[in-house]
Amino acid sequence: MVLQAIKYSKGQLEILDQLKLPHAEEYDHIYSSTDAWHAIKEMRTRGAPAIAIVAALALAVELANMKLPSIAEEVKIFIIEKLDYLVTSRPTAVNLADAVRKLRKITEQAAEKEGANGESIREAYVAAAEKMLVDDVSDNENIGRHGADWVVKNTEAGKKGKVSMITHCNTGSLATAGYGTALGVIRSLHAQNALKHAFCTETRPYNQGSRLTAFELVHDQIPATLVTDSMAAALMQLKGESENIAGIVVGADRVAANGDTANKIGTYSLAILAKYHGVKFLVAAPRTTIDLSTKSGNDIIIEERPGKEVTLVKGPRHDGVTLDLAVVETVSIAANGIGVWNPAFDVTPAELIDGIITEVGVVEKDSEGVFHLEKVF
Ligand code: MRU
Repeated sequence: MVLQAIKYSKGQLEILDQLKLPHAEEYDHIYSSTDAWHAIKEMRTRGAPAIAIVAALALAVELANMKLPSIAEEVKIFIIEKLDYLVTSRPTAVNLADAVRKLRKITEQAAEKEGANGESIREAYVAAAEKMLVDDVSDNENIGRHGADWVVKNTEAGKKGKVSMITHCNTGSLATAGYGTALGVIRSLHAQNALKHAFCTETRPYNQGSRLTAFELVHDQIPATLVTDSMAAALMQLKGESENIAGIVVGADRVAANGDTANKIGTYSLAILAKYHGVKFLVAAPRTTIDLSTKSGNDIIIEERPGKEVTLVKGPRHDGVTLDLAVVETVSIAANGIGVWNPAFDVTPAELIDGIITEVGVVEKDSEGVFHLEKVF
């Protein structure tokens, strides 16, 4: 079975509810941009590429099922208003803003065409949104291939045959249209028989690592071990057969022009640990995540999420022996009344990053330590 976070056919969209994983695999129907906005905000769907694609396709579905005004200008305004609304769902991942910008342009161009009407604008919009879904999978496969080749060529363990890697958060099929970015690199290493072992971090507070990445690794039967975020330093100190870490590969929500990278909270600490331990630190992301208009990490807006995501955990009842999937409970794991800071992302300075893996190749810094990300466009 192929893991699919997004199921789409013309006029129909379903998303795998990631709040219920790994214990239940349930799909939610998305009928409109309002449905998508809520699914993204509540993180029933998440991951930078998936957010953008779900938003784009939700509006395609809404357009496919509605009675369109025949006046081109009215359809154009309707689409643009919905896009402006969708982009407000989550602020940090630039893929959504990038998709909105491209879809807006396509809509405006379609409206300017001679003889344009509601139907022709709808067709142009839907075709562009559907292309985003298709392109994402092939981009991810290319990221996986370039990343795996780089790791094999640029690490001692890789040159000898097999590497052990750490990854953070979830960047796999669940965060994209399929295959994944950083997890795609691990999938590709495994497919080439060049992966000794994968370690995934729990990724507090939302546990994308233990719930989602672990689920994907088990699903694909990739040799893997789960660690809590605070175990990463100790893991890098170990020099055992599998524990000898060659590299850390993470995804990104926004890569600024200078290479500073916003990604899931905890990424920055892993990058510092990698530097201390002489472990390669790689960011894997499609070019839609690179934002040349954001000069550096200082200009990236970091989303803050509700404190209850830190203080409360939710899951099926477990009496110490058996899991009762029918009863989902929420328990508090913090002292009542404590204040909470819950930034969803942090920024890793470019200085700590060895390479940025894109679908067209791996970008490394020049001799002065500067990334030239404009080269990939
Ligand atoms: O808050 P999330 O789960 O949407 O955060 C996801 C991440 O930080 C991922 O690493 C990033 O979006 C890349 S997914 C290919």
